[in-house]
Amino acid sequence: MEQRVVREAGAMLAQARRVVVFTGAGVSAESGVPTFRDALTGLWRSFDAQRLATPEAFRDDPALVWGWYEWRRDTVRRARPNPGHVAVAAIEARVPSGVVVTQNVDDLHERAGSVAPIHLHGSLFAPRCSACAQPAPLPDEAAEEPGDGRRLAPPRCAHCAGLVRPGVVWFGEALPSAALEAAVEAASACDLLVTVGTSGLVYPAAEIPQVAARFGATVMQVNPQETPLDAVADVNLRGPAAEVLPALVQAAWGGADPA
Ligand code: APR
Repeated sequence: MEQRVVREAGAMLAQARRVVVFTGAGVSAESGVPTFRDALTGLWRSFDAQRLATPEAFRDDPALVWGWYEWRRDTVRRARPNPGHVAVAAIEARVPSGVVVTQNVDDLHERAGSVAPIHLHGSLFAPRCSACAQPAPLPDEAAEEPGDGRRLAPPRCAHCAGLVRPGVVWFGEALPSAALEAAVEAASACDLLVTVGTSGLVYPAAEIPQVAARFGATVMQVNPQETPLDAVADVNLRGPAAEVLPALVQAAWGGADPA
């Protein structure tokens, strides 16, 4: 990546008043959390993430899907925020108004210091009943990795004895309306949107950078690969988030701590 491009991007960031940082699985890749479109590795390598993340999969084999999400929760629990997450929190702390909108179901933005990121696709840490929707407690941490397609029977709801499901948005399900509304509102009011580590393929989340562009914001993209969001991005910073974002923060404000 050219230094000049990062310097110019940093100058834009330093001048922006209202900033939205929109993130996807790529921001957590360097923390060891696999992205969706990467083949699953290790013990779950024979499964297709996009097939497990559906209401049909849970209906057909609840223990398989619950076991997979418990494995993911365990993976995230062991992971640490990377310099990309830390830089996102620094941007949020530095700009006059900063909002983080994430498609990720991990909690690495929060653990890096972001304040109340908007989770468009729910959370691994908020299970609820699949029948009556009451929140359910998180099970105790798995003593051993629930790997190799290991089925784990989901807990039963304390209110109606329905099956507890992960509090995430599956393919074909509606996004939480309050989160989507807040994200659209922030995107339509911002002057700079930085999209990080998302393939831009999954709707309606992928609309968020497009909303910002339509309302006249500058769109900056951080991704090592080309994506459909290249079409709306005014600036493309091609590279991994954990390298590009700290360089961007450095270019915007130098090494100083946020005031
Ligand atoms: N830094 C930045 N970007 C990266 C990195 C990295 N180190 N590594 C990979 N990427 C990019 C890839 O090039 C790709 O464009 O991250 C993107 C990951 O794409 P997806 O796996 O499709 O993840 P995401 O866009 O978050 O998926 C959206 O789809 O599966 C559903 O609900 C799930 O929230 C998810 C949604």
